Amino acid sequence: MKQKPFNVEDIRKSFPNLKVGVHEKPLVYLDNAATTFKPQSVINAVANHYKSGTSNVHRGVHTLSQQATAAFEDARNKVQGLLHARKPCEIIFTKGTTEGINLVASSYGQAFLRKGDEIVISEMEHHSNIVPWQMLCAAKGCILKIAPFNDQGELIREEFQKLLTPKTKLVSIVYISNSLGTINPIKEIIADAHKQGAIVLVDGAQTVGHLAVNVQDLDCDFLAFSGHKIFGPTGVGVLYGKESLLDQMPPYQGGGDMIASVTFEKTTYNVLPYKFEAGTPDVAGVIGMGAAVDYLQSIGLKNIERYEQELLNYGTKALNAISGLRLIGTAKNKTSILSFVLPDIHPHDVGTLLDEEGIAIRTGHHCTQPVMKHFNIPATSRASFAFYNTSAEIDQLAQAILKVKDVFR
Ligand code: ALA
Repeated sequence: MKQKPFNVEDIRKSFPNLKVGVHEKPLVYLDNAATTFKPQSVINAVANHYKSGTSNVHRGVHTLSQQATAAFEDARNKVQGLLHARKPCEIIFTKGTTEGINLVASSYGQAFLRKGDEIVISEMEHHSNIVPWQMLCAAKGCILKIAPFNDQGELIREEFQKLLTPKTKLVSIVYISNSLGTINPIKEIIADAHKQGAIVLVDGAQTVGHLAVNVQDLDCDFLAFSGHKIFGPTGVGVLYGKESLLDQMPPYQGGGDMIASVTFEKTTYNVLPYKFEAGTPDVAGVIGMGAAVDYLQSIGLKNIERYEQELLNYGTKALNAISGLRLIGTAKNKTSILSFVLPDIHPHDVGTLLDEEGIAIRTGHHCTQPVMKHFNIPATSRASFAFYNTSAEIDQLAQAILKVKDVFR
């Protein structure tokens, strides 16, 4: 796809939501790790499906159904291209990252994990990459091991390696931490796990759409992400899985489209990827996610990565200049997520006062309570940047934080 030179002002024009005002101030949207705004092309793709293309997929010979099916499968091809997967059938459409992880825990876990088998995750996981494994361990008698991180928020690789034994059957690990911004050395982690014969699931929720991802180069067995964090619609996502593994796994849910034939005596299942896509999917959402992939490709992941690193560097300097402010997550290899605390000011107060200035950030534990426990804090304030943010917006953030400090002085 032809890429235009990176120009943030041009890019901003594609995102109508950036133009809204909050409390009669121009919106500064710095909550991109929670969800991202959608370019007009994504909004159009979803709207056009409902305006003139509404139909179910894989179920009709009529024209609209044929067209919807073609657009739906085209979105699968686009995601395959984005992830550099070997085949389109390795792309399973889900509701989002959470469902992708639950699918693996439920299907692979129920079929292949036994009592006493070990699962390794890390201390920086989102709850969606902790709880499904706890549920699986409770059901099957497996053991969950936790790889710690240091006070910079970096995974301690030697401690992780020590947890890997011949009993380790599965490693499920985040590529980029949503609350710390840490970019884990995922390729090395995957290689470590494979040496012990464990399969690896990567939580790619904060990665896809920010870094170029090549699942064949990483050699991950599974990778999950959400459409709404890659500038696409909410309610859709992707589980990538190696064909050889997906083939062996039982279906996650039963229903329409996932079968080859049904009788009361015996049911046989559909081929990949449909075996894992029971029921009517979010057709418009998937088509919208395909448009989001096109949009990302038109800018170029390498350009996005470079620009977001510039924002990270600028933002880190701006926030470090505020006396008393402490950054939570200072890994050497980071993405554009800045979590911070201010002495004696609760993050929720920070979030509320920033909102009055038109600045949207997230406050709370970010669904990573073990990360908060590590730092012995209840919550952080978190600014997370996307490629449509600017250094001027970061200046506004820094000014507004100074104002919050004044209010509490
Ligand atoms: N997991 C999302 C976040 O980090 C919702 O905000």
